Amino acid sequence: MFTFAIESSCDETSAAILDNFEVRSNIILSQLFHKDYGGIVPELASRAHIKTIDKIVKSSFDEANLSELDIGLVAATRGPGLIGSLLVGFNFAKGFAASNNIPFIGIDHIESHLFSCFIGKAEIEFPFISLVVSGGHTILFLVCGYNDYKVLGQTQDDAAGEAFDKVAKMLGLEYPGGPLIDKLAKVGNEDYHKFPEAEIKGSPYDFSFSGIKTSVLYYLRKNFPGDTLKIPLNDLCASFQKAVVGSLVSKTISAAKNYGIKNIAVSGGVSANSRLRNEFMKCTSNGYNVFFPEKIYSTDNAAMIGYTAYLKYIHSPAGSFDNEILKQAFARFGS
Ligand code: KG4
Ligand code: ZN
Repeated sequence: MFTFAIESSCDETSAAILDNFEVRSNIILSQLFHKDYGGIVPELASRAHIKTIDKIVKSSFDEANLSELDIGLVAATRGPGLIGSLLVGFNFAKGFAASNNIPFIGIDHIESHLFSCFIGKAEIEFPFISLVVSGGHTILFLVCGYNDYKVLGQTQDDAAGEAFDKVAKMLGLEYPGGPLIDKLAKVGNEDYHKFPEAEIKGSPYDFSFSGIKTSVLYYLRKNFPGDTLKIPLNDLCASFQKAVVGSLVSKTISAAKNYGIKNIAVSGGVSANSRLRNEFMKCTSNGYNVFFPEKIYSTDNAAMIGYTAYLKYIHSPAGSFDNEILKQAFARFGS
């Protein structure tokens, strides 16, 4: 069965088509103009989605060499995200589904990041610990099955990606700062300065990144007042990245250890980070299996929405959804 999916929760307009579990096309357009404002401007983001969505959808069908007559299920991100941006993709997909009489399902953005590690796979091995780490969220889950998740911890303030972006801004780097910090850190001295990793009393799996961010700010103010040109960018990026990654890895491994779980899935925009990938891969020598999405599926994309929709379609017992339109899907294709 072919699933057509749209993702438009933030500043990427994306459309994808999947053939069962396999991606046939995954078109992503990033709204680069937000760089001029140093962050996302929600109203401009939704207007840009409106301008481009039909072209992105057409490209996804052209690349997959399919037409609307081939599609069996339509999906779109239903949240969380920027409301104006969500509305564009969600309503486009719903209109597409209604006008072609195809069942429709709205998908949770975080849940789709969680499953993005397994895109292409028909079987997923449960249980696993999932770290979803993006620009908007940093959440640690215990995942025991489809629709069976427990939140073990989450950030108490900034998301890790948000901290990357804010620190990048302090350093005079463009938005989004995560990929730039990652690149600059590659040739930096990670031990140049020790930034603090936060521990939250009584909440071993919760994160906090605003302290690291503020300590970078104070460090810059104290040591390079008014003279940003003298900042040792590579060393500072490497030291900051070490602290953020250290906190993400240690809490995830501690959860895996305490719950006796060997499988770990790391996803979301920050899962593209090279240090994060390297540090988690080191844990495989202690018997952990670590899953990452392909890099193109780390940041926002419609393939993860389509894959999650198809997983739900296959694995949720008929009638277990309160979503009327999905029930129609079961009536039409069986389950
Ligand atoms: O998942 P995503 O595309 O959007 C949200 O759902 O938030 O994540 C975007 C975030 C941004 O904060 C960006 O700076 C961060 O992911 N990011 C990275 C890297 N690539 C993207 N952070 C660190 N290292 C990277 N290589
Ligand atoms: Zn995302």
